[in-house]
Amino acid sequence: MNHRSFIRWLSALGTALALGFTPLAQAQAVKKAQVVILATGGTIAGAGASAANSATYQAAKVPVDKLLASVPELSTLADVRGEQVFQIASESLNNEHLVTLAKRVSALSKQADVDGIVITHGTDTLEETAYFLTLTVHTNKPIVVVGSMRPGTALSADGALNLYNAVATAASPTSAGKGALVVMNDEINSGRDVAKSINIRTEAFKSPWGALGMVVEGKTYWFRAPVKRHTVQSEFDIDSIPVLPKVEIAYGYGSANDIAYRAFAAAGAKALIHAGTGNGSVAAPVVPALRELRAKGIQIIRSARVVGGGFVLRNAEQPDDQYDWVVAHDLNPQKARILASLALTRTTDSKDIQRMFMEY
Ligand code: DGL
Repeated sequence: MNHRSFIRWLSALGTALALGFTPLAQAQAVKKAQVVILATGGTIAGAGASAANSATYQAAKVPVDKLLASVPELSTLADVRGEQVFQIASESLNNEHLVTLAKRVSALSKQADVDGIVITHGTDTLEETAYFLTLTVHTNKPIVVVGSMRPGTALSADGALNLYNAVATAASPTSAGKGALVVMNDEINSGRDVAKSINIRTEAFKSPWGALGMVVEGKTYWFRAPVKRHTVQSEFDIDSIPVLPKVEIAYGYGSANDIAYRAFAAAGAKALIHAGTGNGSVAAPVVPALRELRAKGIQIIRSARVVGGGFVLRNAEQPDDQYDWVVAHDLNPQKARILASLALTRTTDSKDIQRMFMEY
């Protein structure tokens, strides 16, 4: 290299350094997020006999490595690695599964080489797991729960794009600090608010208070943020919860009776969620049993079987102050069960439990 060329090279290098285009800076500029996918089963890992089987299939068949390999585009979004935590249909998930999964999510969230976590899950109880994670994992890193309504073998299967969108959301710094999220059907919903509201359509998941945002072509678009306590603001910490107390749910309906409540209590339930008609109403033949069980120390929590968009008002349909009962506010019965289980790991004071139902 002659003197003139060396001066030109030196000048170009100086410009590049000044603009931050050093090889290291360029490498850092394109450093991908590190996303871990925890697979638990469900339809997103399902397989049907034919492409026409969009609703008849076997859930929890496809292992996580095949799931990731089936969407090669994931590698354009993040450096992705997978773990098979369970391989079950989500209607069979139990409290022990919830604790195991949340502890794994918590441990991964503490690792410097993890920027976001995706959980693939059956849709039947996906909302319960998402709420449990938002209440118990102390991290600001994105936690995204995703499923599908059709198996990957079906025509117009939704799992691949749902998984792509979930990884895009988990890889995006804009998803941090919003609690556990549920990504389905191009929408980003709060793990607290969302519920499976339709049983065999791809637009199954709805939040009565609206979605938080959308994910389109690998990019997130936000329109609102959660207002309830979650993750790092939560008083519940999965790393200090060994076992969840037993909480059961009984439905309200015409001709209802108290048999289920008494049976659950006899089996050791520490709280009963009443999935009441209307505004959490309790049929007259059931009230005496609930008062008797409350007197024995079992928490009585009034939720509603009515699909979201309102909330159970304290002292409206029942004198909750007089009976020392709790109302679940806007939480559906299955989410009320999750919160009640966690509440009982910290208190048996019904007024403190009521505070929790208003804050989380
Ligand atoms: N068995 C149901 C479950 O695993 C299938 C529903 C689904 O995953 O979409 O939740």
